[in-house]
Amino acid sequence: MAEARKLYIKTYGCQMNVYDSERMAEALGGAGYVPTDTPDDADMILLNTCHIREKAAEKVYSELGRLKPLKAANPDLRIGVAGCVAQAEGEEIIRRQPLVDMVVGSQSYHHLPEMEARARRGERSVVTEFDEDKFDHLPGARSAGAPATRAPTAFLTVQEGCDKFCAFCVVPYTRGAEVSRPAERVLREARDLVARGVREITLLGQNVNAYHGEGPGGEWSLARLIRELAGVDGLERIRFTTSHPNDMTDDLIAAHGEVEKLMPYLHLPVQSGSDRILKAMNRKHTAEGYLRLIERLRAARPDILISGDFIVGFPGETDEDFEATMDLVRQVRYGQCYSFKYSARPGTPAAEREGVDPAAADERLQRLQALLNAQQREIQDAKVGTEQRVLFEKPGREPGQMVGKSEHLHAVHVTDSRARRGEIARVRITHGGRNSLGGEMVAG
Ligand code: SAH
Ligand code: SF4
Ligand code: F3S
Repeated sequence: MAEARKLYIKTYGCQMNVYDSERMAEALGGAGYVPTDTPDDADMILLNTCHIREKAAEKVYSELGRLKPLKAANPDLRIGVAGCVAQAEGEEIIRRQPLVDMVVGSQSYHHLPEMEARARRGERSVVTEFDEDKFDHLPGARSAGAPATRAPTAFLTVQEGCDKFCAFCVVPYTRGAEVSRPAERVLREARDLVARGVREITLLGQNVNAYHGEGPGGEWSLARLIRELAGVDGLERIRFTTSHPNDMTDDLIAAHGEVEKLMPYLHLPVQSGSDRILKAMNRKHTAEGYLRLIERLRAARPDILISGDFIVGFPGETDEDFEATMDLVRQVRYGQCYSFKYSARPGTPAAEREGVDPAAADERLQRLQALLNAQQREIQDAKVGTEQRVLFEKPGREPGQMVGKSEHLHAVHVTDSRARRGEIARVRITHGGRNSLGGEMVAG
């Protein structure tokens, strides 16, 4: 057999890109590539890009520029750009950067093996079509390119694309219309992951709770899929992300109270606490509607940890609008949050509108982040003295240390030879750090 070629993939953006990078590695595994952790000895480099915020394309071009010396040292090195910038820029990337052999949009990864073969012959190619469900054509989890064992946690994309068209967002353009994968394919993939050592699966979708995959007996909701997944032996934990408030159905809320394997954590972005801004963002819900939803979730599962996303400085946002966001945050009490300054994205409706004063946006972001950080820290520190169930994932930085995640997704470390990767253990939390908790294993 010929010596394996080495593949280096650099992944930017959301978890869906992380999942896609694994699928690309598997697809190219069939063409004789094995993954490597460094670009220096790679035969192929793929940049799996994100277009969500400003200067995304510029960053990709400068990253490509940095690969020049590697290409000079190894003329056989093949370079590809994948993901949402590839989808948005297409041909332009090949035109601007002679180093690039392949441009492959986020829905076209099943074309990679043939693109690779063309690249070997010195032909450059661009594929950015939206024609079909790429996962139907990508190799399954048991393919030649798939590793035999896996880390204890895995992502599994069940839904792609978005039909919501929030006024600021590029996703409906880069990922296309909403598509759900058939339920039986998802279940099969989940069973394969579990057979390879996975204990926790996070179901992914840009709008994962809008899932409506074809399944036995008709369309399945996300709640139905979760209930079925909970029956898979050896699978211990189920999570899902990202959800839209308007798709948070009664059966999904009920599942949070009833399905033991469904973890008490929900990422439910609201973006703003001002009804005026929510309307301008085309979010199609109010702040009050969101707050009622959180109440119902907490009634179903009292310890659920809520996480969110916020945008400050959206066009037209006044001080009063921003204060409404601060009020909403105080009412919800978030355990985890991501907040961003609005970034105008070409081609989206909001990009046409006049922006707010950048200094005001900076100041708002700082105030919001200070509040969110304080809430996060408070919720994390309140775990000190409690007992948590931790799924151990990997060795920690200190000798003999293992780190894992609690049900609320807090990082927890212990120093104990009984802590085994892939196992869930009870841990008494003894102290809190900036981004993690420390504890001791509870006997028995
Ligand atoms: N589907 C998810 C979000 C995907 S994008 C949802 O509906 O919540 C992840 C986050 O990036 C968004 O929640 C939003 O907070 C942020 N984001 C998206 N577009 C942005 C823009 N143009 N400027 C700043 N932040 C943005
Ligand atoms: Fe973007 Fe809105 Fe769709 Fe989320 S729901 S991906 S923010 S358009
Ligand atoms: Fe970025 Fe595309 Fe995900 S734009 S956030 S990589 S869907």
